[in-house]
Amino acid sequence: MAVGFALAVTHPSAGNIGGGGFMLIRLADGRSTFIDFRERAPQKASRNMYLDAAGKATGDCVVGCRASGVPGTVRGLEYAAKKFGRKPWADLVRPAVELASNGFALSYGQAASLRRIAGLNRFPETRRIFQRDGKYYEPGDKFVQPELARTLERIARLGAAEFYEGETARLLARDMAEHGGLISLDDLKSYAVVERKPLTGQYRGYEILTAPPPSSGGVGILQMMGILEGTGYEKAGAGSAAAVHYMAEAMRRYFADRSEHLADPDFIKVPVARLLAPDYIAALRRSIDVERATPSAQVHAGPFPHESSETTHYSIADAEGNVALVTYTLNGGYGSKVTPAGLGFLLNNEMDDFAPKPGEANMYGLVQGEANAIQPGKRPLSSMTPTLILRAGKPYLAVGSPGGPTIINTVLEVILNVLDFGMNVQDAVDWPRFHHQWLPDELQMERGYSPDTIALLQKRGYRIKRVGAQGEAAAILFGNGWLEGAPDSRTEGSAEGY
Ligand code: GLY
Repeated sequence: MAVGFALAVTHPSAGNIGGGGFMLIRLADGRSTFIDFRERAPQKASRNMYLDAAGKATGDCVVGCRASGVPGTVRGLEYAAKKFGRKPWADLVRPAVELASNGFALSYGQAASLRRIAGLNRFPETRRIFQRDGKYYEPGDKFVQPELARTLERIARLGAAEFYEGETARLLARDMAEHGGLISLDDLKSYAVVERKPLTGQYRGYEILTAPPPSSGGVGILQMMGILEGTGYEKAGAGSAAAVHYMAEAMRRYFADRSEHLADPDFIKVPVARLLAPDYIAALRRSIDVERATPSAQVHAGPFPHESSETTHYSIADAEGNVALVTYTLNGGYGSKVTPAGLGFLLNNEMDDFAPKPGEANMYGLVQGEANAIQPGKRPLSSMTPTLILRAGKPYLAVGSPGGPTIINTVLEVILNVLDFGMNVQDAVDWPRFHHQWLPDELQMERGYSPDTIALLQKRGYRIKRVGAQGEAAAILFGNGWLEGAPDSRTEGSAEGY
């Protein structure tokens, strides 16, 4: 909880109090749970709210006041603290208050990230906070956030009720009303956290605890690992064209299902059992041609009834064996770019995780179906996938990542790198990644694959798209009495022990 509040100050592109997320908890006594504090669509939201009169997408779901869902983070962190924590609430929030009020020196990466906030001229309050007198911050500059410090101080004193019903709620709702946003006082007051059962599965004798809907991630991890189990795909070696092929075909098939069947389970009946049924998974496995890519046009969702990549993830384990994995987000980097006047925090643009126009691509290029259409009070489908692997009933590998839809495949690849390819956890996190999401029919690949491997994959029928970096995994391996923390060398994360 304390890390969540601190990241809202030091990692403003994704750490947040204006967004939402998921927390997977596994206690030393064997109990586990999943806290869903995902944003919800405001009551005034409607199915076609992001389409113009001609039915064309307006883009309002990505930037500006109308892009935000009702934030869940503060209520989610309070829920977890009350039910599972021991420290007084104020002790969890005060370190963040101090970071915001005293400031901290910006790293190279933080300063570079602040230069990438697009469209600041449209949002003078955001520009005022994230630039100094209209100029970019430089590495080493002290970054102080007095408005955010005041907001956090109220939350430290009065609890989550202050954010949802107190002065913060009033200022937020007033700013929304003044600028055409949808979130009302009622939306804030009625925001509720949902405690869910984690999805569970088995893979080669390991137990998997992962994210249930409205995350699409856990179903994806379990279905794809099910497809791969027993095929011997790993014998070709990590990064080989043959292994990448098999994994990409599993990804393609899962993302077709995702587009059709995954959504908020409080609104749509999600056929989780059918999507994970051994006979269905066996049929998916049989449909893979071991030599050739299957064109996505020939891959369809299962025929039974009926989601910046800028999220962030942290994995925490204590000396007693309690584990908490948190993935939370504003959705795109710096969310909607809107900072409500006087509050000092950014609001999410999570409404884009709905299907603003079912059948058409959202900002991640994801084509999604009717199940994930906008409805008031509904949670948008997510890809956030905090996942814990158990060995002999004890935590073995904890992992999560940001990255929009690539999250699911990043988590899958880190797990397989450890379990199937025998890598140490740091190599497993740093290893070059790839991603297939059914549509568009292309295989995204990071640097690090040889021209030879690329050529072999092209021969198999893949259209390859080279990409910069995929995700930012944060993993812990529980080995022989040690906790091996593995931050992602792609960025500036770190592993810390206290
Ligand atoms: N906003 C990214 C996700 O929830 O998948």
